[in-house]
Amino acid sequence: MNTTKKFEHSIEFFNREREKEEILSILRQEPREINFIYGPINSGKTTLIQKLIDNLPKDYVVIYINLRERTMSSYKDFLEAIFDVRYEGILTKIKNLVIRQKETVDDVISELGKIHKIPIPNGIFTRIFKEEKPKNAFIYILDIIKNIKKEGKKPVFIIDELQKIGDIKIDGFLIYDVFNFFIRLTKELHICHVFALSSDSLFIERVYAEAMLQGRANYILVDDFDEQTTKKFLEKYNISKEEQEIAYNYFGGKPRTLADYILANDRNKYIEQMILERKSEIKSILRDVREFGDEIKVRDKGFPVSYEILLETLKKFKETEKRNSDEINETAKRYLVSKNILFADCVKDYVKQQSRINLIAIREILKEI
Ligand SMILES: Nc1ncnc2c1ncn2[C@@H]1O[C@H](COP(=O)(O)OP(=O)(O)OP(=O)(O)O)[C@@H](O)[C@H]1O
Ligand SMILES: [Mg+2]
Repeated sequence: MNTTKKFEHSIEFFNREREKEEILSILRQEPREINFIYGPINSGKTTLIQKLIDNLPKDYVVIYINLRERTMSSYKDFLEAIFDVRYEGILTKIKNLVIRQKETVDDVISELGKIHKIPIPNGIFTRIFKEEKPKNAFIYILDIIKNIKKEGKKPVFIIDELQKIGDIKIDGFLIYDVFNFFIRLTKELHICHVFALSSDSLFIERVYAEAMLQGRANYILVDDFDEQTTKKFLEKYNISKEEQEIAYNYFGGKPRTLADYILANDRNKYIEQMILERKSEIKSILRDVREFGDEIKVRDKGFPVSYEILLETLKKFKETEKRNSDEINETAKRYLVSKNILFADCVKDYVKQQSRINLIAIREILKEI
């Protein structure tokens, strides 16, 4: 079974035609609502959006900000993550490309088509940084967006890992200022498309229940590949039918793990190792709760997590992969979601494992207990 040569090339982006079309059709319309892109861990949300940005027509100008790269514990961390005072560097780059002799920040952004931080003159940044008033930061960004629009371009604002600012407080939660800004860009001014990405299903649940977002938000699920897509993906790399079955059985449609499976020198060993790793991670979480107990915070109140109820909850997945949210103890669900064991889809109202390897690991653990 392991006669396959090691691939010299890396794994290419595969499929996502349906999701791409869904997002493109939103981009073709006037901005109306905030789009939340959610899904299990490593399902390929970031990769999909990056791929899309890279292939957008030139009349779109994308501001893509990923909050993953740094710790985000204060409003100032957020400002540092979204703004770039060293924009003169970008100006030089543009000039070197001899596109047009442009001078202003807005012109430069329009020419670039894609930026990862918002250029800002040092003086303005220092003022915004001192004031601690998110509104002023958003006024600056809105101005930039208006100018992009004036140039006849279509601005798109994308923020990845939005949950990272979920708990930041500054006269109340920063996230509400962010939502207000997004509503202004979309529902009110129809000036800029907004996409927010997150794999934290508890955060998405909070967003989904948020009164201020009712009727103002759209939810796009980027799930693991389905069975057919998984097999086509594997087929592309000459994985035999038999191994396709095995891979789907152990890894479901998780692109990242499938890619590692394809590239593994010894695929059986890779499967064994993955199960072992996942088992030991989950066992350690359970052991911790059994010995020391734990709690989960909901609306600033702590709720104790019971080891027995965790086991009972996991047992619900012995025969079925998916459960309706009502069938699952809410405290256990939140705890297991926070530990990346379960994935809860509040839009479609079900709970499942974060991955298929997880499910297999849990089933083995339950047999051993
Ligand atoms: N469509 C795809 N085709 C091939 N490989 C993919 C695809 N989507 C994702 N991958 C692989 O899976 C890895 C994880 O994807 P990505 O980081 O985009 O997932 P994510 O959903 O954003 O993860 P997170 O939940 O951590 O935010 C990528 O580095 C890439 O190797
Ligand atoms: Mg991501």
